Amino acid sequence: MPRPRVFVTRRLPGEALSRLDAVSELHIWRHPAPPTPAQLRQECAEAEGLLCLLTDTIDARLIDSAPKLRVISSVSVGLDHVELAPLQARGIPLGHTPHVLTDATADLTMGLMLAACRRIPEAADMIRQGGWTHERRWEPDMLLGRELGDSTLGIIGLGPIGQAVARRAAGFGTRIIGWTPSGRSVTGVASHSFDSVIEQADILSLHLALTPETRHLIDRHTISRMRPGTILVNTARGPLVDQSALLEALDSGHLGTAALDVFEHEPLSADHPFATHPRVLATPHIGSATIRTRIRMAELAVDNLIAGLNGEPMPYCANRPALQ
Ligand code: DGY
Repeated sequence: MPRPRVFVTRRLPGEALSRLDAVSELHIWRHPAPPTPAQLRQECAEAEGLLCLLTDTIDARLIDSAPKLRVISSVSVGLDHVELAPLQARGIPLGHTPHVLTDATADLTMGLMLAACRRIPEAADMIRQGGWTHERRWEPDMLLGRELGDSTLGIIGLGPIGQAVARRAAGFGTRIIGWTPSGRSVTGVASHSFDSVIEQADILSLHLALTPETRHLIDRHTISRMRPGTILVNTARGPLVDQSALLEALDSGHLGTAALDVFEHEPLSADHPFATHPRVLATPHIGSATIRTRIRMAELAVDNLIAGLNGEPMPYCANRPALQ
């Protein structure tokens, strides 16, 4: 029997692709830049399986131009790059990679939080720029920051990553309050209304999926109700926040710091105000970027794809209920 043709939009760490190679006619995009939408359509024209990344747009046009496509697996937990309706219409299962990146993303969130609270980038820059001088060797009020143990952390979104952040913050003695759309309560997190979390948090951390309902959840109005000096941490998705409103609030000094791993438009260009803003700590979407996690994501994405090709239930299928 001929092996199904599979297109993979990027080389992946670890050995997962060798397993896929053993059971499919594997085509891997080997260029440094991701395929353009036109290149993706061309590569998928004959494919039965597609293994993609969050940088690939999976929309109706792509699905229409891939008549043989019967399974898609994304190397990501977030699926805002995928238009679900055309997949549902064709009965194409969509795999994704939850849980395996929870710890790595929660670790980065804590890193950003601590860096913002203790002004670590500013302190490192001071040395880099020769500002640590004999006159300013140690001063009682030099680079004073905020302690996690003396702060209220507000967590918006209490899925696995939000919960993992709460567990970590508890170790610092932080007061933790949270809100999640499902209203579910979580051990160690005092459940509050959305408004109450926004108004009470010294540090606000976002852990929601991007959906039409959550786009710009943090807008000008929400920001105006935050405490002066609030630190905003976002390791989820950039469009949860209205970036223009955030910039205004940082410029005016209403917000303390924004520690951002994700942006409305990625990559963030070097001339974007956030790239050099003294109150912004920006990292390039590295929440899941550890060797262990990226290997586990690749393994799980391949498991999903192979299961789908075999007509078996995927370990993590994002649209199974609709297909049933
Ligand atoms: C995801 O998988 O959605 C993450 O954003 C990758 O870091």
